[in-house]
Amino acid sequence: MDSTVRVDTAAARVASAPNAAERLASLAYNDMRRVDALILERLDSHVELIPELARYLIEAGGKRVRPMITVAAANMLGHRDAAPIRLAAAVEFIHTATLLHDDVVDESGMRRGKIAANLVWGNASSVLVGDFLFARSFSLMVEAGSMKALGVLSAAASTIAEGEVRQLSAVKDIGMTVETYMQIIDAKTAALFAAAARVSGIVAGRPAAEEAALEAYGRELGLAFQLVDDALDYGGAAAKLGKSVGDDFREGKVTLPVALCLQEAQGEEASFWRRTIAETRQSDGDFEQALAYLGRHGALEATLDQARSHARRAREALAVFPANEWRTALEDLADFVVDRAY
Ligand code: IPE
Ligand code: IPE
Ligand code: MG
Ligand code: MG
Repeated sequence: MDSTVRVDTAAARVASAPNAAERLASLAYNDMRRVDALILERLDSHVELIPELARYLIEAGGKRVRPMITVAAANMLGHRDAAPIRLAAAVEFIHTATLLHDDVVDESGMRRGKIAANLVWGNASSVLVGDFLFARSFSLMVEAGSMKALGVLSAAASTIAEGEVRQLSAVKDIGMTVETYMQIIDAKTAALFAAAARVSGIVAGRPAAEEAALEAYGRELGLAFQLVDDALDYGGAAAKLGKSVGDDFREGKVTLPVALCLQEAQGEEASFWRRTIAETRQSDGDFEQALAYLGRHGALEATLDQARSHARRAREALAVFPANEWRTALEDLADFVVDRAY
């Protein structure tokens, strides 16, 4: 059975159903409005290109998953002051900066349903405005007033860069193992989710065990999120994702679905991956052939199984906290991350 088709059809089925992310978004509505206002205020600059380019990307939306985690975690702990709002804005600034840089590196053409900024303004502008947003994130972290939170988020920022550089070095590598892939996504994606959750525990002054539980929640959620994203690059709908599908294959980027095929590929299939990934010599019909191999190995289903198991661990990590509506919302977010594949 072709699992790609199934993922795609199911995505259409629930596209309009209210989901956990929307419920969390309505619970966090007031806080997220403050976060958004702060983001818009702080991306301003007298150098016009900066707000022009940054607004283009930020006003295109985005799910705001990471700042929502920071805000929800703080509320779950009953901690309500300006620090989590500032940290949430800083987290989204870091994320936005990495997207600007990532689209240059990946030569992406579409982001958040719009033509990618690198195609509108060019690579140089994207890189430099990304740097500006990174720098602004540090001012916000300083204003949050916690050296420890500043330490955690700046460590996450350098870890993301390490993950992106590692992925760049691993491109076209058909010897890429599942273990290496997991280390890369842990760095490029899960590190920021983990920090986004943990900093709320820090500014709320919670004991180390609770900080660790928040960090585990974010990390597991981040791993699930990237696994689903990598499955959707083979099975999702571009319109729903707001970015083009099939980019990973075209770039010769080995993600879990292909890594799983590579473990078992022999003969003709092994030559196919060598030509299309290691040599990135691709022609019409190769993406469809790749989908057929993924289907044969059940690779998308296996990737989503992995995502489900990380999402379950994310949920479990919250068990140490007293039950309240915010904890439930964070638990539901773990389901949403996986459900967006269907
Ligand atoms: C995109 O992140 C980068 C990945 C880690 C896959 P999101 O899917 O959270 O992007 P936006 O912010 O919602 O556009
Ligand atoms: C996104 O990674 C950037 C980071 C996680 C730092 P990807 O390249 O895998 O994601 P998309 O598909 O461009 O959003
Ligand atoms: Mg990338
Ligand atoms: Mg990319």
